[in-house]
Amino acid sequence: MKRPSRITVPQLVALKQAGEKISMLTAYDYPTAALVDAAGIEAVLIGDSMAMVVQGHETTLPVTFEQIKYHAEMVGRAVQHALVIVDLPFPTNHLGVHRVIELAGQLLKEARVQAVKLEGGADQAPVIAGLVSAGIPVMAHIGLRPQNVHQMGGYKVQRDAEKLLADSLAAQNAGAFGIVLECIPAELATRITKELTIPTIGIGAGAGCDGQVLVLHDLLGLTNGFVPKFVKQYADLSTVISSAVENYKTEVRSGKFPGPEQQFR
Ligand code: KIV
Repeated sequence: MKRPSRITVPQLVALKQAGEKISMLTAYDYPTAALVDAAGIEAVLIGDSMAMVVQGHETTLPVTFEQIKYHAEMVGRAVQHALVIVDLPFPTNHLGVHRVIELAGQLLKEARVQAVKLEGGADQAPVIAGLVSAGIPVMAHIGLRPQNVHQMGGYKVQRDAEKLLADSLAAQNAGAFGIVLECIPAELATRITKELTIPTIGIGAGAGCDGQVLVLHDLLGLTNGFVPKFVKQYADLSTVISSAVENYKTEVRSGKFPGPEQQFR
């Protein structure tokens, strides 16, 4: 079967040169990935945020490589047009360059993803370079690194300008094709964006980035409790789902469902 072609890594990078903003969203399963893709989003990320919004954990740390791969396979089957990127879950990218290439290679071979994302900048430059030399495109991720939550002492805005600039340049020099900037003051993210030739994708990093990424469940209003300041909820799906389920329950109790039109004669 011939599939429609997806956005490629060089095409995504070219969007920066053309001054076009990039929209990226997470997706973790077939139906939501298909919807996100059909809406014209340029890049879909199977994020390790699934540990929190799908699996119900408090941090991103518990999600395993096998679980990420399983979800990447679903997303890989659904997406026809967007670039598909998958997160390397904790602590995959610290296992030594050869092992990381082996694991990332499995994702490209078996899950139809085109690139991997890893948390890190200068500290991960050898890993980024190793993956790139093996033909595996890499998106780096600096600023707030949720996999380092214990070391960072919580989910805090990152303000060390010199370090963040050095991290972003090191990632670019190592061959990363893009970089996520998470929870960085807007002026600093704008400065980094101007310094780099590769696209910056911001989350909590202001409007000066080349693109934006959000966790799909946050955008849809599907998360309970705390909503980070940088999230804009474009829908209230929690209310929609609760009310549909309540209506179903009421109709089952009252005998209104199933009606004649849902029954076989
Ligand atoms: O895991 C994730 O969803 C992410 C994005 C928020 C960038 O890393």
